[in-house]
Formats: sequence, structure tokens, C-alpha cells
Amino acid sequence: MNKNYYITTPIYYPSAKPHMGHAYSSIIADFFARLKRIQGFNVYFLTGTDEHGQKIQRAAEKKKMDPLIFCDEISKTFRDLSDTLNLSNNDFIRTTETRHAISVENLWNILEKKGEIYLSKYSGWYSVSDEAFYSENEIEDLNGTKKSITSGSKVEWVEEESYFFRLSNWQDKLIDFYDKNPDFILPETRKNEVVSFVKSGLKDLSVSRKSFNWGIKVPSNKDHVIYVWLDALTNYLSALNYPNKSDNLYKSFWPADLHLIGKDILRFHAIYWPAFLLAADIDPPKRVFGHGWILSGDEKMSKSKGNILDPLEIIDTYGLDPLRYYLIKEVSFGNDGNISQDKLESCINSDLANNYGNLCQRVLAFCDKNANSEVPDIATFTDDDKLILDQYSNHYDNLIKYSDNQDVNLYINFIVEQLFAANKYFNDQEPWKKKNDKLRMNTIIYVALELIRKVTILLYPIIPSSSLKVLKILHIKEDKIDFETIKDNNYLKKGLKLSKLDILFKKIEQND
Ligand code: ME8
Ligand code: MG
Repeated sequence: MNKNYYITTPIYYPSAKPHMGHAYSSIIADFFARLKRIQGFNVYFLTGTDEHGQKIQRAAEKKKMDPLIFCDEISKTFRDLSDTLNLSNNDFIRTTETRHAISVENLWNILEKKGEIYLSKYSGWYSVSDEAFYSENEIEDLNGTKKSITSGSKVEWVEEESYFFRLSNWQDKLIDFYDKNPDFILPETRKNEVVSFVKSGLKDLSVSRKSFNWGIKVPSNKDHVIYVWLDALTNYLSALNYPNKSDNLYKSFWPADLHLIGKDILRFHAIYWPAFLLAADIDPPKRVFGHGWILSGDEKMSKSKGNILDPLEIIDTYGLDPLRYYLIKEVSFGNDGNISQDKLESCINSDLANNYGNLCQRVLAFCDKNANSEVPDIATFTDDDKLILDQYSNHYDNLIKYSDNQDVNLYINFIVEQLFAANKYFNDQEPWKKKNDKLRMNTIIYVALELIRKVTILLYPIIPSSSLKVLKILHIKEDKIDFETIKDNNYLKKGLKLSKLDILFKKIEQND
């Protein structure tokens, strides 16, 4: 079995500061990266910034800045955000790096040599904001302004000499590819949209521009810059040192296991990208997952709409792990989700403070008072003990399946159920009434500690630093976290001294 796993986020446009939508994609990707790592995979996790094209050039011009200096500045805010979000990414790629240009030029040359690219003339609509070409039936006229129907962004008329990629030749091969790889595009509804779009007919794609110069030049014709999407998509390869196919990174991690993206950029990833790769005889990625949008008052949160929630402010107020937990749990993964500060506060109080925090606090405090803060000696487990402990081994295969199918909500629902069950177990068993049956009391403490251990391992990919605080008490180090040990009911060794737990999550005063 191949135990390597390559996961990517989109590379974001550094045209403005990052917002909650970017944070969302990155946090979800980090969740999967950490989850796979504790399942024993050798994970490579990539994120970065997409710095060429007209959108960036114009944003820099507006600030009267050199585009590279402009990108240096804003790309850094994305890199800083990766740290603030506690992302476990292995690399951060910028498309203005030389290593990236080498890959893009190489891919272009292959496509040109194979006759997949030809010179002609483009005339049609273009959205600089989306960096996308739209056909007449994809735009509408709103009070005299032409806009893309799907994204709502302004389009302008472009007429210029351009290289084209023979996308029309790939229509049947793409359909065939989707048929043979039924899980290439998830969720299912998104896949159906893509398939019907491809079936409706693909036109050749303009892959170069002549009217501006901020980009990677076409190697054989320096008057043209390569279309920013052909440039950007290649980041997934250039980070692995493509075209050096004997490079260890490339050999280990290509084809990518998961491109995690928002549904706004599905067409680029699920149609253009596999077509470019198939045309160049490179294996396409194994999966593209297009998640929904974070909405703010029913509208997509976006820079151009100016309705952004600043992740840094939220983290300042509530801390990082509560934000990670909230976004992962409360946004139904794959669908759009409206987020609000109110709902975030309720989520912190109910799930993190009352449920998880309370479980850890009361069990450890009880153990401190009655078992000298040590893993106690135990009698045999009762049926009640076994029933709750065995939930984890019983659901183990499902949990692995959820991880592999990106069923984020099923995964976290299981955790929430187990948190309730563990608190209920501790209440029902009433260890405080068992002080004259010490062995039974100790067994209840032991079971509760094991439950904390198991659920904390499941929580680690979601709230890594809080989980690590709890695991530290149990003397489990980050690089020793092993998902499989959730099946073990006797992991904790008798006599192990437990250290003190600080408050994990503070309850928030809410006014209703
Ligand atoms: O499209 N809700 O970059 P971008 C959820 N550079 N996710 C959101 C979001 C929202 N409201 N807003 C943004 C680009 N995102 C290209 C990508 S990849 C080779 C090139 C997330 O800065 C989501 O992942 O516009 C979306 O697909 C991505 O940011 C778009 O970021
Ligand atoms: Mg965008």
C-alpha cells in the first residue's frame, strides 16, 4: 500500500489580505493533512500564492507599486496566516519563484511540441477578477455592465493574438477519465455539473495574453505571457521539483491525492488541469474536492464584495482552536455556510467548554483528588465500561472511511456523540459514591481517562494545540500520536503520573 499522501490548498491571489474564506480552505486542508499523518501516512501538504496575471498587475498599479514588491508584501501576509492558523504545511510556493517558472516553461514546451498548442486570435469576454474567459451565454447585462452569471464579476471585451490549447480534442477523453475515476470530483453534485458542462462541448482554450506582461513568458515567443491559470495550476507540480521526474518528492507524491479547493475554481481544476496533464502524458491528480463558500449575510465572502470577516480579529478574540473547530464543525462540508460571531460563541460554549473541556477538567480533577493524579490500578471492565470503550474500535473502519471520503461532518459528529457519551458515563457511574469500593472507583477513572485519550486523538487534527495540551498530560508526544491506538482499551499504563491541566476553553458570556 502506498503510504504517501499529497494534499494541496489553492494558491491564493495576493491581491488583498487573506480573509475567512482562505482561512477556511487552509484549515480544512490542515485537518486532512494531520489526520492522514496520525494514520501513518507520509504527508506532503502544500499551500502558497498565485502571483501573476492581470489581476495582480492591476492591483499593483493601483498602489503604484512594482508587481513583485507588491506580491512580496501581500504574499507574506498569507504566509504569516499559515503560521497563525497553525498549518502543518511542508512548503509554501510562490509562482514568482524560479523553480516554478522552470516547471511551467517545461510543461508549455511539451504541450507545444505535441501540437496541443497553436497560435490564433482571441476575441471574447474576460473577467480579470476571475482570470477567466466567458462565452456569451455565461454573461448577463446588469444596468449596462456585463457580468459573469456564476461569479457576478465584471467582464471586459478582449481581442488579441493568443495561443490556444486544443481543449476540444480532450472532451471525450475527459468524459472517459471521469467514468474510469468516479471519485475524481467530489462532492457528487459538483461532479455532475462538471460532466454536463464537458458534455455540452468544449472549445479550445486561450492560454496566452499579449496585452500585458506580468507573467511567465511563452518560451518561443516573448511577446506573450502564459495564461495565469496554466501557470498557477502547475504549482502543484513545481513544488515537487517537476520536471525532474527522478526527484524524490515527485516520485513519492505525484499524482496528488487531494486538491482541496472552493467550488468557484472547480472548472479549472476538474477540466483544464486534467486536460493539460493528459495532453502532456502526466498522470492527473486522484481527487479534486470543491467545497462550498463561507457566506456573510447570504453572500459569498470576498474581497471584491467587501464583506469579509477578518480571521486575525476572530483569533485575537477567541483563540485559534475555537475558530478551527467552529469552521470544521458548523459549516456542512461541501455546502455553503453562513458564519457568525454569535454561532461561534455558542459553539465554543456548548462543544468546547461544556462538553470537551468539562470532561477533561472533571475527570482529571477527580483523579487528582482520589487517585493521586496517577493512572490507577483497575478491576475488570463491566459491560458498561466495555460498551463505551468499544465504540472506537467498532467505528474505526468508518472513521477511516470518513477520512478517505472527506466526510468531515460524519467524522466530527462521531466525536460530539462520544463526548456526550463520556460525560454521561461519568455521571451515571457516580465514582464519587464508590469511595469504599476503591477498585471500582479506580476502574471508572481509568475508563474515563482512556475515553479522554481516544477522543483527544480524534480531535487532534481539528484543534491541534488544545489536544496536545491534553495529550501531554497523558505523556503522549505529537510525533507519537497513532490513530490506531483508539482501538486499544488498555493503553494507559498503571502508575503513570498525570500532570496538571490548565483551563482549556473559557466560556463566553453571551447576551441574548
Ligand atoms: O482563485 N468561502 O485564488 P483566490 C470559502 N489563485 N472559500 C473561499 C472563499 C469563501 N468565501 N473565498 C475564497 C484563486 N475561498 C486562484 C487559485 S489554484 C491553482 C489558483 C478560498 O485568492 C477557496 O478555496 O481567489 C477558493 O477556491 C479560493 O480561496 C480562491 O482564492
Ligand atoms: Mg477568487
